[in-house]
Amino acid sequence: MERLLSPRNLEEDFNQEMPLRPVWLKDYIGQEKVKENIEIFIKAARERQEPLDHLLLSGPPGLGKTTLATIVASEMGKPIRKTSGPAIERPGDLAAILTNLEPGEVLFIDEIHRLNRTVEEVLYPAMEDFAIDIVIGKGPSARTLRLGLPPFTLVGATTRPGLLSSPLRDRFGIMCRLDFYTVKDLACIVTRAASILGIAVDPQGAEEIARRSRGTPRIANRLLKRVRDYAVVKGDGSITSEVAALALSRLEIDEQGLDNLDRMIMEIIITKFGGGPVGLDTLAAAVSEEPDTLLDVYEPYLLKLGFIQRTPRGRMVTASGYRHLGYQPPGERSDGGLFSLDEE
Ligand SMILES: Nc1ncnc2c1ncn2[C@@H]1O[C@H](COP(=O)(O)OP(=O)(O)OP(=O)(O)O)[C@@H](O)[C@H]1O
Ligand SMILES: [Mg+2]
Repeated sequence: MERLLSPRNLEEDFNQEMPLRPVWLKDYIGQEKVKENIEIFIKAARERQEPLDHLLLSGPPGLGKTTLATIVASEMGKPIRKTSGPAIERPGDLAAILTNLEPGEVLFIDEIHRLNRTVEEVLYPAMEDFAIDIVIGKGPSARTLRLGLPPFTLVGATTRPGLLSSPLRDRFGIMCRLDFYTVKDLACIVTRAASILGIAVDPQGAEEIARRSRGTPRIANRLLKRVRDYAVVKGDGSITSEVAALALSRLEIDEQGLDNLDRMIMEIIITKFGGGPVGLDTLAAAVSEEPDTLLDVYEPYLLKLGFIQRTPRGRMVTASGYRHLGYQPPGERSDGGLFSLDEE
């Protein structure tokens, strides 16, 4: 069975999600502060007839970073070129991309924290001066030649802004952090997606799906499709709150939107590690997952719900985490831990 929380797969990015991906800023639901800022910067850039300043988008997977990058390009009336940190292996690959950009084009680099350092260094002058430095020859006779580039806008996306080197981070004029969506915004997203896909959903049905989507539009859209299948087989095809609740329980998504692995993570910390603290790698091994997946996909929402906390010595389950799983929280636990960036 497809994992509802599986980190994005590329095929889905390019096919299934396409019709649901808003193209204009006005259709981008929620994230009001980010939207407002971007709107102002875009207007100003258009008036000056200059490309938009370089933009860094950060936040957990599925919150709409790629979508926003696409919207920036359409609002600027410019094409977008998409690539990703791991896809650019050598400095020459990046130089080839940069020298082929159209004036004003948006260059989108997903997972920009995974660029390697030598490639990254090509970006510095490119971002700052719209130029790249090419070394000609070898040894003592080598010289560098500066090659001008068309002005462009770099949009970088990352789930881990903390991993960006500071010279790279400093070259972004605009930084936006996307946060988990409210239930109300997610219900709008579900309703919009349902109308695009021709699915009948009533407001309570949309809200039920929204509540269990862990603040994430991508998950809301996936749940909508799964609930639709259920509604077609078990009912008349339309999604009410009862149908949604029933379908989602069948999928083992609980009322807070947690799935089996979320619960297993907390359960294991409680039963095997006495509630924590337990280090990321140990925990990942215990639940047979990649540490990066825990860090990027699972932890942010558990932290947001306040079910776990990060301390300098590892992860702990909080009192409300214990209660959510039906355990009695240990009496003398103090819940004020420290936030640690150790493992970022
Ligand atoms: N604000 C929004 N309004 C409506 N739909 C949205 C919004 N944000 C995201 N979506 C929907 O959620 C899907 C996932 O968003 P997107 O691919 O942009 O996330 P992402 O942040 O790039 O994730 P990743 O970190 O995994 O690359 C989109 O295809 C779109 O359908
Ligand atoms: Mg993306």
